[in-house]
Amino acid sequence: MKKIILDVDTGIDDALAIAYATKSKDLDVLGLTTTFGNVQVKDATRNTQFILQMLEKDIPVYEGSDRPLNQQEPYLAVAQKVHGNDGLANKLEAYDVVTEEKQTGEAISFIIDTVKKYPNEVTLIFVGPLTNLAKVYEQAPEVATLVKEIIVMGGAVTVPGNVRSHAEANIFSDPEAAKRVLQSDLPITLVGLDVTMQTLLSRDEVKRWEKTDSEASKFFANITNYYIDFYESFRPGIGGCGLHDPLAIGRAIDPTFVQTRAMNVDVHLDEALRGNTFETEKTTKNTSVCLEVDVQRFLDHFVQTINF
Ligand code: BDR
Ligand code: CA
Repeated sequence: MKKIILDVDTGIDDALAIAYATKSKDLDVLGLTTTFGNVQVKDATRNTQFILQMLEKDIPVYEGSDRPLNQQEPYLAVAQKVHGNDGLANKLEAYDVVTEEKQTGEAISFIIDTVKKYPNEVTLIFVGPLTNLAKVYEQAPEVATLVKEIIVMGGAVTVPGNVRSHAEANIFSDPEAAKRVLQSDLPITLVGLDVTMQTLLSRDEVKRWEKTDSEASKFFANITNYYIDFYESFRPGIGGCGLHDPLAIGRAIDPTFVQTRAMNVDVHLDEALRGNTFETEKTTKNTSVCLEVDVQRFLDHFVQTINF
C-alpha cells in the first residue's frame, strides 16, 4: 500500500477524493490536512471530519493555513457558488454535525514529521491552494529529497482556467505559494484542468447512487448533483462535473491513468494574469505535467472503488 497524506479544502470534489482515497485498497491514508480554499479553513476541517464520519473512516485530521501567504483573507466568492456556502452544497444544516476543534497550523508539522518518519515512502497529495506545502518547504526544505512524490491538483498549463479565464482556482487562491513550490526542487506532478476537465462524472452515474440504500450514497448523490447543476449553469448540456480532486488520487493509485511531460512551469503574479500557470523556456524541468488521461479506465476505476 502506498502511504499518502491528503491535503484538502473540502469542497464537493474534495469529498469525492476523500471517498476514493480512503476506500482504495492501494492507498494507506496516514492523515488528512486542511486548508482554506473552497471555504475557510475551520469549515474545511469540519467538512473533512464530517465526510470521514459519513464514510465510517477513522483517520486523523490536522488543520492547516487560514489565509494565503500574502493576503489577509481568502478569496471565496466563486467557490461559494460552485460548492455552496458551507462547501458541501448547503446540505450540512440537515445534520447534527459533531466535530472536534483543531489548532490552525498543526498540519505543517504533521506533514514534516511524517515525511521524516518514513523517508522516501510518503506521497503528498494537494487538492487545494498550495499554502501548506509552501510552509512545509520553508520550514524543512529537506522534504524535497525525503518525499516519494508530490501530486498537485492545480493549474491549467495548456487550457483555459476556471476561476478566471487565465487561471485555475487552486493556483489563483495563493499564487505566491504556487510559484514558490513550483520553482523549487520539490518533485511535483501537476494534475491540472488540462486533464481534469476531460474526466466528467455523469448525472446517470449519480442517479445510481441515489437508489442505493445507504446514507453516505444519498448524501454524496445530493452534493454531486449540486456540483453538476453548477457545471450545467455555465456550460448547458455538459451532463456532468469535472473530477478534479479525484483524478489526483487516481494518479497516485495508478500512474498509467495519465501521461505526463516534463516542463518548467511558473506562475504569473501580476494583476492581469494572476495565477496563470505557464511553461517557461528554461531548459531545466521542474514539473511533470499531466497532458493526457485514459478517461474511461479512470472513471470505471473511480466508480467501482467508491462503490456507492
Ligand atoms: C479545484 O478548485 C476547487 O474548487 C476544487 O475543489 C478543485 O480542487 C478545481 O479547479
Ligand atoms: Ca479542492
